[in-house]
Amino acid sequence: MKRKVTENQFFSNSILSWYQQNPRHLPWRETQDPYKIWLSEIILQQTRVAQGLPYYEAFSKNYPRVQDLAEAPEEEVLRLWQGLGYYSRARNLHACAKYIWNELGGDFPNSYASLIQLKGVGSYTAAAISSFAFGEVQAVVDGNVFRVLARYFGIATDIASGKGKKEFEALANQLIPKNSPGEFNQAMMDFGSRCCVPKNPSCGECPLSITCFAFQKGLVGSLPVKINKTKVKERTLNYLVIRCAGEVVWNKRGEGDIWTGLYDFPLLEQESFPWQENLSQEAILFPKKYRHLLSHQRILGSFWEIELSPNKHAELIHWCQKEGFDLVDHQQIDALPKPKLILRYLTDREI
Ligand code: ADE
Repeated sequence: MKRKVTENQFFSNSILSWYQQNPRHLPWRETQDPYKIWLSEIILQQTRVAQGLPYYEAFSKNYPRVQDLAEAPEEEVLRLWQGLGYYSRARNLHACAKYIWNELGGDFPNSYASLIQLKGVGSYTAAAISSFAFGEVQAVVDGNVFRVLARYFGIATDIASGKGKKEFEALANQLIPKNSPGEFNQAMMDFGSRCCVPKNPSCGECPLSITCFAFQKGLVGSLPVKINKTKVKERTLNYLVIRCAGEVVWNKRGEGDIWTGLYDFPLLEQESFPWQENLSQEAILFPKKYRHLLSHQRILGSFWEIELSPNKHAELIHWCQKEGFDLVDHQQIDALPKPKLILRYLTDREI
């Protein structure tokens, strides 16, 4: 869509001046190091600034250089990521660091075109890193940017469609000023996450409201348009929490499902639990139940606790070896990377 240059310039200048009047000092904005910026962007793909900050601090303290991350054991990286969810992001992060260190001699990719080749780096992240670290003129388009542009310019194209993504990317790339691309991108993100927020945006204080299409037409609540096609799967996970002589049986999850590489317990995935056949009198009949929501799955987790008498220890060790489970001592449990569902249970139970 063609728009008058002056209209675009007014928008870009207003966004930049809002940003200058509402500064936010974030550690990844104080550096030009593409490695640190990349760390922050991968973390912020997953969570909001407030929750992401301690993770950023932990990663940059433990792994100040790409080499440090490349050389870290995967389990340690997953443990630092614990609580953020979407653990494939952490595994991609680790794989990228290894690739950059081992294959590129530690030279961090320094352009949009080379960044987008990295695992886990899409157009948004490549635009963010290349504009912040190298001043490349590449506009970021994330949920915040979709919302700001859809409302201000009155665009009703579905933001979940390929067509929508292209349309918004083209517009954002028309709007981004050539002399301050990084600042403009930061400004758009902040404006979207602090002023033009999804619910109850601060239109009363917004410097753009007079020329904002959605505000003028009373459509702020209706834009952007997102047609949700994601199917949510229901799952029932029956966990066996087997304790014996101060140890607990743990399961390291394999590939091809959620939570690869994280630890949970031996599991039966079915709606009713056949405790009578399998567990005789050792089972506690009333499990602890938790509802847990992932992006594509609604999980009901039931935790069945079983305390075996110490004289079963040798038999249990044998069973764990046969089934590929780990018997873990109390003190070692904290170091295992675990999904949030398991953490919620552990916080309540203190096993
Ligand atoms: N969300 C994603 N990237 C961000 C950044 N660099 N600053 C603030 N919020 C963000």
